[in-house]
Amino acid sequence: LALQGIRVMDSIRWPARRGTVYLVGAGPGDPGLLTLKARDLLASSDAVLHDQLVSKEVLAMVPRNVKRVAVGKIGHGRHTAQSEIHRMLVALARAGRRVVRLKGGCPTVFGRVGEEIEALAAAGVPFEIVPGVSSALAAPAAAGIPVTLRGRATSVAIVTGHCARPGRSPLEGVSGADTLVVLMGTRALATLMSELRAAGRDPDTPAAFVSRATLPTERTVVATLGTLPAAVAEAGVGAPGVVVVGEVVRFREELGRVAAGAA
Ligand SMILES: C[S@@+](CC[C@H](N)C(=O)[O-])C[C@H]1O[C@@H](n2cnc3c(N)ncnc32)[C@H](O)[C@@H]1O
Repeated sequence: LALQGIRVMDSIRWPARRGTVYLVGAGPGDPGLLTLKARDLLASSDAVLHDQLVSKEVLAMVPRNVKRVAVGKIGHGRHTAQSEIHRMLVALARAGRRVVRLKGGCPTVFGRVGEEIEALAAAGVPFEIVPGVSSALAAPAAAGIPVTLRGRATSVAIVTGHCARPGRSPLEGVSGADTLVVLMGTRALATLMSELRAAGRDPDTPAAFVSRATLPTERTVVATLGTLPAAVAEAGVGAPGVVVVGEVVRFREELGRVAAGAA
């Protein structure tokens, strides 16, 4: 067993350092989309603090002897206070632990990485951001939708649907981007789509909802700006999901035709 352990450590190219916090992206769910660096850091860590969105397949890569703490938010419900997460990260690092703060997708995309870095810097704790594959790109890709297309879609905006409420739209200023990718938009889907129509987007613009992207339970619903909320409700799919709006969604259908033609 000891020899096996040595062999595992020998094969680690990016080992975690003592007293350091690594803010690591876990990717959208498929463990194959984890970076090599993330895999090595998990294998050489002493403590992993992870969000709810980190898939069980990725968590299975954390060695059994490593302290594992779930600090994630479950939907709009229970979660560990952000200040408590900061306290735990600083305490573990000061105790000389090799700490991985594991977040779904990429920590820099709606991952509250800024607040955690500020807390670590204020406490004089060394840290490193290790980017991951964000669901903002992985979910459309998994559904066969590129977010840009030469000559057809030259701008893309990634927005949160979380703070959507009448009179205060997260889409303000970005509704004209060729492609819109909305995260955390499941609950407010109908509001978001009607705001886009009010902002002048054609109700017939193609739109897709990609649920649980890259996981075995992935589902994609394709409709239009006008019909997406009803189509999603009818299909019975839910969070976590990514909404994609724009002509790029048609590419999925084109791909489907190519694949059908090739068969
Ligand atoms: C708090 S944000 C974190 C985003 C994450 N940092 C990233 O880069 O993917 C959570 C949102 O990410 C999206 N999301 C994350 N994983 C997903 C997946 N596997 N499939 C679809 N959407 C996902 C959903 O919109 C979810 O509400």
